[in-house]
Amino acid sequence: LSSCATGTDDLQPLLTNFLKDVLPFSAFLTDSFERRHNYLRISLTEKCNLRCQYCMPQEGVTLTPRSHLLTAEELLMLARLFVREGVNKIRLTGGEPLIRPDVLHIIAELRKLEGLKTIAVTTNGMNLTRLLPSLKKAGVDLLNISLDTLVPAKFELITRRKGFHKVMEGIEKAIEMGYNPVKVNCVVMRGLNEDEVIDFVSLTERKPLDVRFIEYMPFDGNRWNFKMMVSYQEMLDCLKQKWPNLEPVPGEETDTAKGFRVPGFRGQLGFITSMSEHFCGSCNRLRITADGNLKVCLFGNSEVSLRDFLRSGATEEELLHIIGAAVGRKKKQHAGMFNISQMKNRPMILIGG
Ligand code: 5AD
Ligand code: SF4
Repeated sequence: LSSCATGTDDLQPLLTNFLKDVLPFSAFLTDSFERRHNYLRISLTEKCNLRCQYCMPQEGVTLTPRSHLLTAEELLMLARLFVREGVNKIRLTGGEPLIRPDVLHIIAELRKLEGLKTIAVTTNGMNLTRLLPSLKKAGVDLLNISLDTLVPAKFELITRRKGFHKVMEGIEKAIEMGYNPVKVNCVVMRGLNEDEVIDFVSLTERKPLDVRFIEYMPFDGNRWNFKMMVSYQEMLDCLKQKWPNLEPVPGEETDTAKGFRVPGFRGQLGFITSMSEHFCGSCNRLRITADGNLKVCLFGNSEVSLRDFLRSGATEEELLHIIGAAVGRKKKQHAGMFNISQMKNRPMILIGG
């Protein structure tokens, strides 16, 4: 240690890292299958400026009254607690997180949390061009932009709103500003956009994009049916006919996407196979909904209101025990797509992806 550090200020981070390596991970964030939850996804709002078919019912959703949503202070208090326990990545989701008026304040405050390595945002890209400079300045490290089609008219069909060009502009701007890769999330649905998989991959030839094809998942109100789901294997077979030399890209154990690339292309692609090959075994994710519920599994309806405990004056210790108990009850894996489609859950827009 002494050869590379001169004063106590320099020693502190080394010591912290050292302790992190030797100390066991927080018991509160470890479940009964030894999964360590170091990745927290926080939904900032239930509202959205699009109406994607796969995400929300046509008739819309009943929004939670504003006073029942987490305030920025409550959200930051919870984030601080999770980071103290070992969360090192936070993703902000929605609805559409960038329509929350205090989003920049929240990001700037998160940035101050020691131990938080990565701040990511999942956005539909509608407001990106305008907000990107401030998002970068506030400290966003990673951007996932949802885009399901490259055909403007189809965009309107899928999202029930106009906006294709705005999103494309947002993607370009994110690349320009140095985000690399820029992740593009594409939910593939039979009869809607499965014929565009090749066009999406072609985009990665010149652009540093990581296009991730997501298997269509059942949520309340999205009228999922098995026939509409295009499996990973089917997409891969189709791409291999066009690019026989498509090769796997090794990833981290907790990656949800199986990565591939076409040799010579700048970007890459991936498949999020939540339905055909779930990745529950290496799940490291927890979610907090905009109304303050902790959700330990995307496909489970069991939730606990951290907001209610916070508002009734629970101490940090008490909150940790509530969080620990919920994490402890986390199931080994989800119930399988057919069961999930019959189960009660929130519509995706009220979960946050
Ligand atoms: N199936 C798969 N992915 C979904 N998303 C939303 N709803 C679904 C669904 N039914 C994902 C989209 C979007 C993110 C916010 O959540 O990829 O990019
Ligand atoms: Fe909005 Fe995203 Fe849901 Fe589409 S998928 S309606 S953009 S939250």
